[in-house]
Amino acid sequence: MENGVPRVLRFDGEAVGPATDVLRCGGLVAVPTETVYGLAADATHGEGVAGIYAAKGRPSFNPLIAHVSDIAMAERYVTFDPLSRKLAETFWPGPLTLVLPLREDSGIHPLVTAGLSTLAVRMPRGDVGKIIRALGHPIAAPSANTSGKISATTAEAVRDDLGDRVDLILDGGPCSVGVESTIVKIDGDKAYLLRPGGIAAEEIEAVIGRKLIRLDQRAAIEAPGMLASHYAPDAAVRLNTTEVKLGEALLAFGPVRAKGVENAVAVLNLSERGDLREAAANLFSYMKQLDASGARTIAVEPIPETGLGEAINDRLRRAAAPREGA
Ligand code: TXA
Ligand code: MG
Repeated sequence: MENGVPRVLRFDGEAVGPATDVLRCGGLVAVPTETVYGLAADATHGEGVAGIYAAKGRPSFNPLIAHVSDIAMAERYVTFDPLSRKLAETFWPGPLTLVLPLREDSGIHPLVTAGLSTLAVRMPRGDVGKIIRALGHPIAAPSANTSGKISATTAEAVRDDLGDRVDLILDGGPCSVGVESTIVKIDGDKAYLLRPGGIAAEEIEAVIGRKLIRLDQRAAIEAPGMLASHYAPDAAVRLNTTEVKLGEALLAFGPVRAKGVENAVAVLNLSERGDLREAAANLFSYMKQLDASGARTIAVEPIPETGLGEAINDRLRRAAAPREGA
């Protein structure tokens, strides 16, 4: 880092060495994954992991996901039950996080799990696996944003938000999925959905042959990241809008049905053709752009609750939730 400006490198083969060096020294590297950018530290390096909490301003009781390069690496740290193994074999690499019992003497720093006896693990898609392999242990990485704010899906968004609180930013372009991973926990013959995300619940249910049990209030304990207010832009957020009020920004979905569009100071359409994957990929960057328009409120058109719509609506509800102190 020089003069408070983080180093930004295009993420190609040549960036693996410098990124691994920063991680070995307990530094922080922002890495692109298919879901969102992650703020990574070596998961076995106490100072590194503590640096994540400090940079994000994250409550220290909120555990982190350990990112592995393959199932074999995951097995060194956690034990798989048969259903979780089936899910890993089906969806890894990909936007699925599994919460699994942590092995004793795993070497994972306790700050990663916030003292829990389980570890959230996932194998991300793309070249970040090369860094994990070169490092030789998992990287702990939450989304690369200030705690409670919108997750970053571009390198510019990381730089704007975290600035010099990160040592190195790897620019791999915009994230293809755009919302965080789906988090699942298997417990005996029960399967819990701890967070809807980049893989639709229906797809997971088809693989494990049972319904996912949605955790609502309990989720606050099981996955403390499921805090009510999260992903919050500066502007207020109004959901299921059918009419735009003067001075609002409109986040549309599909053919625009809302009345009063001429009142909007800015309009962006998550997906004109009503495609939920496209909408997920655009969600966080469009929220940021509408926030930057200066509108006091972002009005959002209704979005179907099926497939990736469940994750999109989850993030939007959190963005609209009452804020602390507000
Ligand atoms: O797509 C993603 O998952 C991104 C990219 C960077 O991989 N990461 C991400 O991390 O979204 P983060 O820290 O923003 O969210 C992690 C979630 C939190 O809700 C946390 O509470 C939950 O995972 N979590 C972590 N460890 C857990 C555990 N042992 N049991 C239950 N929930 C856990
Ligand atoms: Mg996050």
